Amino acid sequence: MLSTVIPVAGLGTRSLPASKVIPKEMLPVFDRPIIQYIVEESIQSGASNIIFVTSKGKTAIEDHFDISFELEHLLERTKKTDLYKGIHALSREISIQSVRQKEQLGLGHAVLMAKNLIHTGPFGVLLGDDMIDSNPAGLKQLTNTYDLVKKNQAADIGVVMLSEVPDSEVSKYGICEIKSGTDFQITRCVEKPQPHETKSRFAILGRYLLPLDTFEILESQSRGALGEIQLTDALNALAKQGRLFGCVLKGQRFDAGDRLGFLKANIHYYLKSPMAQDVKNFLKEILK
Ligand code: UTP
Repeated sequence: MLSTVIPVAGLGTRSLPASKVIPKEMLPVFDRPIIQYIVEESIQSGASNIIFVTSKGKTAIEDHFDISFELEHLLERTKKTDLYKGIHALSREISIQSVRQKEQLGLGHAVLMAKNLIHTGPFGVLLGDDMIDSNPAGLKQLTNTYDLVKKNQAADIGVVMLSEVPDSEVSKYGICEIKSGTDFQITRCVEKPQPHETKSRFAILGRYLLPLDTFEILESQSRGALGEIQLTDALNALAKQGRLFGCVLKGQRFDAGDRLGFLKANIHYYLKSPMAQDVKNFLKEILK
């Protein structure tokens, strides 16, 4: 059984003022909130147990996946069956639980909040604002890599999603250094380095498949700046033991927590929709 953790407890300051009352994960991209794409990717990757790590003001996320009898009844009665089917399936076919992160003490701390709800590894972590459009689904690409690499490893391993970034973007990401001559065995992860501090350009995107003992590593590691528990430190502990591997994304990724990334995601999904031609006509018109 694959469990996934979706941390959504961050403050979302880059999306203000839109995210002041509405969680940024609930902002719509084409016809659904961002978080629905992340949950759908989890399901397409084989997850049957999904855990949101939430904070104050994020209840709309839980409500979105709850059953709405009134709405279902109305849609059924007015014969809007397509809409009905979508809402009906998501509300009933998945097990979703949530835990609170009472203080925002970092991504590692957010993941640790899910410890008591996960009993088998590896488990997935999907950041709530990182959208991936790919086939196979983003997290599925990690589980496929895991199955290939694990055959030759005695201990359990972790796999992270990587993508090459230009020099100008290096300082925005965790960057992974790869052992030469290996199939993406990671030797070190550096959190938001300057381009001259590492030769690697492989950035971690918001998808991780982690062994169960990651929770123990997170619990025992010392806190970083601002008392935060960093996921990067746990990844480095796995890397030191030769237990961390990379998988280069085949597909498209959008940082929907960033203004331009959010716009790009919207354009991308509108252009994949039945409204594509109307959108193209409009863009042609305004770019004249
Ligand atoms: P971000 O770095 O994007 O932070 O977190 P943020 O607060 O969401 O957004 P900005 O930068 O202020 O605009 C990456 C992911 O980790 C989660 C966030 O919800 C997001 O999905 N996170 C981060 C937590 O759940 N808890 C934390 O303490 C920190």
